[in-house]
Amino acid sequence: MYTIWTTKQVLQFAKPGDEVVLRGWVYRKREFRDKIFVLLRDGEGVVQLVFAKDRPEVYDIAAKLNIESSIIVKGVVKEEQRAPGGKEVHVSDVIWFFVGEPFPINPSAAQADSEYLLDVRHLWIRSRKMWAVLRIRHTVFEAIHEYFRSRGFYEVQCPIFVSAAVEGGATLFPVKYFDREDVYLTQSAQFYLEALIYSLEKVYTVAPSFRAEPSRTRRHLTEFWHAEAEMAWARLHDVMNVCEELITHVVRKVLDERLEELSILGRDTEKLERVKPPFPRVLYDEAIEMLQKMGFNVKWGDDLGADEERALMQKFDTPIHLYGFPEEVKAFYHKNDPQDPKRTLSVDVLAPEGYGEIIGGGERIEDPDELVRKIKKFGLRPEDYYWYIDLRKYGSVPHAGFGLGVDRLVMWICGLDHIRDAVPFPRDIRRVKP
Ligand code: 4AD
Ligand code: MG
Repeated sequence: MYTIWTTKQVLQFAKPGDEVVLRGWVYRKREFRDKIFVLLRDGEGVVQLVFAKDRPEVYDIAAKLNIESSIIVKGVVKEEQRAPGGKEVHVSDVIWFFVGEPFPINPSAAQADSEYLLDVRHLWIRSRKMWAVLRIRHTVFEAIHEYFRSRGFYEVQCPIFVSAAVEGGATLFPVKYFDREDVYLTQSAQFYLEALIYSLEKVYTVAPSFRAEPSRTRRHLTEFWHAEAEMAWARLHDVMNVCEELITHVVRKVLDERLEELSILGRDTEKLERVKPPFPRVLYDEAIEMLQKMGFNVKWGDDLGADEERALMQKFDTPIHLYGFPEEVKAFYHKNDPQDPKRTLSVDVLAPEGYGEIIGGGERIEDPDELVRKIKKFGLRPEDYYWYIDLRKYGSVPHAGFGLGVDRLVMWICGLDHIRDAVPFPRDIRRVKP
């Protein structure tokens, strides 16, 4: 038997003259004079392999290899400044290999047709770009759990099949559920989290949410990952504090652990270094004024779309809290400000560099009569929300929470043009394959 070295271990620890066994996939291959150079890719990185013609038993195999063929080789480490990482492995034995068919994606065509790359997504996830994004995504999820668990939040799991809208009926996905017609995929775990605070006080969940988004945009998926938290006894400013700490923690961890991946993506990390609490707190009214000055045709009471958010965020180089939205642009469960009842105690966190909304949250209504009044005002039926109203009848307390779109956070941290590149197998209005 033999010990397998990863490419990373070879580059970090192997000394010239060491014999190593490596395994992985052919990332690049080129012939030069009497040698074949293969860049071998594994889960950790790449190492250059050299197959010499005067060893026909290995050279002839190398000659047959395609891009993405798999192989296990034994060889001797040499220093080579021109190789990535400054080392290469001169192959003495091929222990195992699988040639397979010619790989259908070629690097020069790669950028040309993004629809094609989505069709072959099951293969494109092997690319350096997707490799880098997926590793950053891994660290983002890890950091989210780390943050909540270290701050006394309990992790909970909520149902995916639900029977009422949280964020409005227009984006509900109906599900064929036996003979019923009132079952949907969840848009948000929020109402279940609100129930759970009466048991655990501070709760969070990281789970998929679903929205039947009718348009294809750069920042909407039909299935996205949602990190949501809810806190008993909390107010709007508590939500803002938790959101900015959470985002700062995630960005810090990615900067500490994923610099190589950020550099593969060409990310300007100085922009991420600026992310530190406190984030500027911008009242909705100020944002409207700023937009009017920029020539936007908006007035108090309007919702802000992607274009307005992008324009607004040109004024800031860190994320901001945009708070105090009018009642009519926020879902019914938002608590109205007792000092100024036409607005809600709501907040969106907007990311800089034009990315816009990544978090929505705020205070919830704790009074049962007020809740029923707003449900009716929004044209909804109180009976659909009977259990949600029930929560206000037994030991109701002020509480608040938020939902973070994890894919949007990954998109911004990675500096991607499109949210679907933040996800291994994206779903949108046209695409449910692969
Ligand atoms: O602003 P939203 O709709 O808020 C809620 O769902 C609340 N119930 C959350 C809560 O308070 N517990 O969604 C929250 C975040 C958005 O800011 C956005 O980042 C993300 O979820 N999001 C989407 N991400 C990708 N594709 C979509 N279609 C998204 N819709 C929302
Ligand atoms: Mg929102």
